[in-house]
Amino acid sequence: MARPQVFVARRIPDAGLQLIEAECDVEVWPKRLPPSPEILREKARSCVGLVSLLTDRIDAALLDAAPKLRVVSNFAVGVNNIDLAAATARKIPVGNTPGALTDATADIAVTLLLAAARRLGESSLDARAGRWLTWEPLGWLGRDLAGRTLGVVGMGRIGFATAKRLHGGWGMKVLYTARQPKPDADRELGARHVDLETLLAESDFVSVHADLNPTTKGMFGAAEFAKMKRTAVFVNTARGPHVDQPALANALRTGTIFAAGLDVTEPEPLPPEHELYSLPNCVIAPHIASATVDTRNAMATLCARNLLAGVKGERLPHCVNPAVYETQ
Ligand code: DGY
Repeated sequence: MARPQVFVARRIPDAGLQLIEAECDVEVWPKRLPPSPEILREKARSCVGLVSLLTDRIDAALLDAAPKLRVVSNFAVGVNNIDLAAATARKIPVGNTPGALTDATADIAVTLLLAAARRLGESSLDARAGRWLTWEPLGWLGRDLAGRTLGVVGMGRIGFATAKRLHGGWGMKVLYTARQPKPDADRELGARHVDLETLLAESDFVSVHADLNPTTKGMFGAAEFAKMKRTAVFVNTARGPHVDQPALANALRTGTIFAAGLDVTEPEPLPPEHELYSLPNCVIAPHIASATVDTRNAMATLCARNLLAGVKGERLPHCVNPAVYETQ
């Protein structure tokens, strides 16, 4: 019997790829850069299953060009690259990789928070450039973490894991926004569910973990930075478009806030001439939050399980549009 045809839009770890290859005819896009939308559409044309990355736009045009498609398995927890309404309308389940990258992403949120608060990026560059004169009592003064207040914007798994590290390790008080209060966070971390205004005004550190959707896109603009403390550190490990970047650059340049640590930007990659790179109080990582060996293996395994369930017509273990299973 013919094996289901699958396109994998980039090389993923063998931990997942081999599971897919054991049951399907697989074509893997071999390049470092993503396939163009035209190529992706062409590849999807004959596929039953598609493994996409956060850099691949899966929209109605692609889905319409893929009449045999039974599943899209995203190699990410975020699915903002996928038009979910279009997939649901066509009864195509979409899978993601929740849980697998929670710890790694929380680790990077804390890393960026520390690096920005303690001015690690700028002081290290200064030393390398030969400007380290001596030990100076007033040199490189940063911000303390212990006992300060952390504001978590979006208390999902990753927000919780970040808060747990900073509450447990540095005794931080935790404020958070979320659609609903989170009893676990309140109980385990003594966290307080507040509105965004209160969070911005009271937090020493603001860490973004919300989904990207039309209500959260651009949620950090000039007005929000102006409400933050002048000593505040802003961290984003969610998605670049949450932030109005010119407003952030202005806030960093004018001292409206103290510093920022970003793992995500808009666009990605951020071009080398972008103003944010020129600001010493902005630490930028190239979207590496899930980049550990074990995490990427776990993501690949979940991604393969979703894909294989989908090609067999079974329910995906992690489906972000379960409405596809509702009978009407
Ligand atoms: C995700 O999975 O959404 C991350 O941004 C990439 O690992």
